Amino acid sequence: MDLQLKGKTALVTGASSDGLGRAIAQGLAAEGVKLCITSRRRPLLEEVAAGIVAAGGHEPAIVVADIMKEDAVSQITSEAVKKIGPIDILINCAGIGSPQIAIEGPDAEWIQMMTINFDRVRQLTHALLPSMIERCWGRIINISGKSENKGMLATPSAKAAVHAWSKGVSNLVGKHGITCNSVAPGRILTEQLRRKYTEEWRAEESARDIPMGRYGEPDELACLAVFLASPRAGYITGTVMPVDGGLRRYAF
Ligand SMILES: NC(=O)c1ccc[n+]([C@@H]2O[C@H](COP(=O)([O-])OP(=O)(O)OC[C@H]3O[C@@H](n4cnc5c(N)ncnc54)[C@H](OP(=O)(O)O)[C@@H]3O)[C@@H](O)[C@H]2O)c1
Repeated sequence: MDLQLKGKTALVTGASSDGLGRAIAQGLAAEGVKLCITSRRRPLLEEVAAGIVAAGGHEPAIVVADIMKEDAVSQITSEAVKKIGPIDILINCAGIGSPQIAIEGPDAEWIQMMTINFDRVRQLTHALLPSMIERCWGRIINISGKSENKGMLATPSAKAAVHAWSKGVSNLVGKHGITCNSVAPGRILTEQLRRKYTEEWRAEESARDIPMGRYGEPDELACLAVFLASPRAGYITGTVMPVDGGLRRYAF
């Protein structure tokens, strides 16, 4: 199927690790999309860019930025637009998981998790929407996560906020040819998960909790994100789509 993505531009956050952002960037580049990739680690971004060029894609522009900084949104959006032109597709992928926070735990931990996992997603999107509205086309894809919260974890709370906000955005911008969707990964094997869980723990969890009996690969989520980014997915908006091997417990 021709995804009709050739010549579109995309900004992908969190594209540096061997995780979801990188896989989505590679998938978009393979469809002829011009990319700007961003995160804090320049050497890894350069490695991603070199891999894309070696595979025959356009050389991605790079913006090195710590998304937690106050001025990160204006820095990333202005540099991205300067380097590749108006942005057609925004992939909000930068994010981190949180440990359990005690009930009496510090506000700072909640603020940090809400900032990276929700506020920056909202702010980057709001910064790019006016230009998408003007050009009557756009795609926003938020790589979110589960919102089933076991205990006191800030990340699922932030991801739930993304789901609710994203639905609202989809209501407002549909008439301008713009879609806004969330893809909720569950146990896709990336740097973050390798760091957090031992191989033994992952095998036990897979056998116990994941119907597909294994962790997923970044490519298995990236192909959905690339499709949602395409003109072909123009009637899909306001959704939350899990890619989790059946891990989540509830149907709705
Ligand atoms: N993998 C899963 O099963 C899973 C499950 C639930 C949710 N998710 C969500 O999926 C997204 C991608 O996760 P992943 O598993 O691919 O994780 P990952 O491999 O750790 O990648 C996270 C990315 O975010 C970037 N990042 C982190 N902090 C940043 C900061 N302060 N400023 C700029 N960039 C920053 C990292 O780049 P630098 O370190 O270079 O800055 C990296 O490129 C996240 O939003 C995560 O919450 C993943």
